Amino acid sequence: MEYDYLTLTFLFSFLVTYYAITITISGGRRNSRLPPGPYRLPIIGNLLHLGNKPHHSLAKLSKRYGPLMSLKLGTRTTIVVSSPDIAKEFFQTHDHSFSSRSVPNATRIVDHNRYSIVFLPVGDQWRRLRRLSKEYIFSMQRLDASEPLRQKKVKELIDHVNRCCTSEKAVKIGGLAFTTSLNVLSNLMFSRDCAQYDSLSSQEFKDNVWALLEIAGKPNIADFFPVLKSFDPQGLVHRGNVYGKKLMTIFDRIIDQRLQARLTSMTNNDEARLTSMTNNDVLDLLLNQMDESSFNRNDIRHLFYALFIAGTDTTSSTLEWAMTELIHNPNKLETARAEIIKLMKHKKSTLQEFDLTQLPYLQAVIKETFRLHPPVPLLVPHQAIRDVEIQGFMVPKNAQILCNVWAMGRDPKVWSQPETFRPERFLEGNIDYKGQDFELIPFGAGRRMCPGLNMAHRMLHITLGSLIQKFDWKLEENIKAKDMDMTEKFGLTLQKTVPLKAIPLKL
Ligand code: HEM
Repeated sequence: MEYDYLTLTFLFSFLVTYYAITITISGGRRNSRLPPGPYRLPIIGNLLHLGNKPHHSLAKLSKRYGPLMSLKLGTRTTIVVSSPDIAKEFFQTHDHSFSSRSVPNATRIVDHNRYSIVFLPVGDQWRRLRRLSKEYIFSMQRLDASEPLRQKKVKELIDHVNRCCTSEKAVKIGGLAFTTSLNVLSNLMFSRDCAQYDSLSSQEFKDNVWALLEIAGKPNIADFFPVLKSFDPQGLVHRGNVYGKKLMTIFDRIIDQRLQARLTSMTNNDEARLTSMTNNDVLDLLLNQMDESSFNRNDIRHLFYALFIAGTDTTSSTLEWAMTELIHNPNKLETARAEIIKLMKHKKSTLQEFDLTQLPYLQAVIKETFRLHPPVPLLVPHQAIRDVEIQGFMVPKNAQILCNVWAMGRDPKVWSQPETFRPERFLEGNIDYKGQDFELIPFGAGRRMCPGLNMAHRMLHITLGSLIQKFDWKLEENIKAKDMDMTEKFGLTLQKTVPLKAIPLKL
């Protein structure tokens, strides 16, 4: 954390005073009907319990205090859910009561908190954004229509990896997957690439998105003491604004160019020209909406902003973990590859999305990756809209809800040999991650569930399938598969501590 002694002293005095006032007002009461949890220190509550891997620490605590646990993180009452049964109570039985968001301070970057599909409370504007993004991006019809785009972008990735084969140089799988996800999204949104595979080209867009992801993933003291929000003690919002504004300027430029093109076409009154100047991409569809409803340019910019932040790193880090597990477990890699090669033997085309239903082992690999390495291990924090009683305990209004899907994925009461990567377990049953089977909810469940699930599902299978169908993968400098670093680092998403680097070999 980056603040100096003066700031710390100021902060400390401020917090002591604030605490004294709070104690006086509340008379020092502790709500005895809260779920059980560890002893809280004055002022900081259970902050020291979190450590630098909160999903690990919370998993450990829940073994002691149970799958419904309460903590005080600074001044925030936090409820931690760590079992499928309790998760079902929260996100199915009482879904509406828990459908609000606790809003992290980093979302104040470019005032995103006021317009974000991810952080708005459930209300008219949130519903409008969910409806528009479903209609224009995520519906099955739209996803089918955008398949050629994903196909094209995966082919570009494969062509790039092919070129790397010649030089026998290791590639960073996560970085390549990030570039691919970014370009799929940017072409879907406004029909242009925003990142390149080679390091010489300008990466302005990618660098800004990456910087914002890093800032949003840093622990922020103002999240635990909301009274500090406007002081931005670590300067994270200030720094984030630099990148956020650059990103917004890029969106503005793209919107201006498109508006100009549409205007020119209309003044020339030339239908054919209009079709060629516009792209019928998400930007065009949203601009059409702008005339008809209260949906304005700023909403478009913030929708893009939210989708790039929510949709790139989640997808690329899952792909990196899937490749890591397969290289770490060469016999599983062989099984997955054999399944694809057998299916594709008599087909002329490359792997297509409709092939995926015939690749149960590949699907099991992705499920097993989500079980062990959910990219958003505590989901995006929810917030209680009202007091709700769960299993005899009180979850108070405004409490923050963390659902530890990482712990649920490794619970021996739910999974046999939970620490072992064994995709076969999913061939035996019908468990899926679509929000109905609460033992596996990497995309969440209920009304705040990830709207990008089906897009991510298609992207992940087609990209992973193509990478293992076309190439064999060797580790650098004779590192042995069994010695690979498998540790994770907590941030906005769960990244590998050591990024996966592997040498592709043509098959
Ligand atoms: C492996 C890929 C992905 C994973 C694991 C993932 C996971 C999640 C999770 C856990 C949530 C919060 C759910 C909850 O609160 O209960 C979420 C929300 C969200 N995701 Fe994803 N996501 C992925 C990909 C995507 C993609 C590709 C997009 C869009 C292009 C996207 C857009 C969103 C949005 C807009 C929300 C906020 C929904 C709301 O609050 O109403 N995600 N995602």
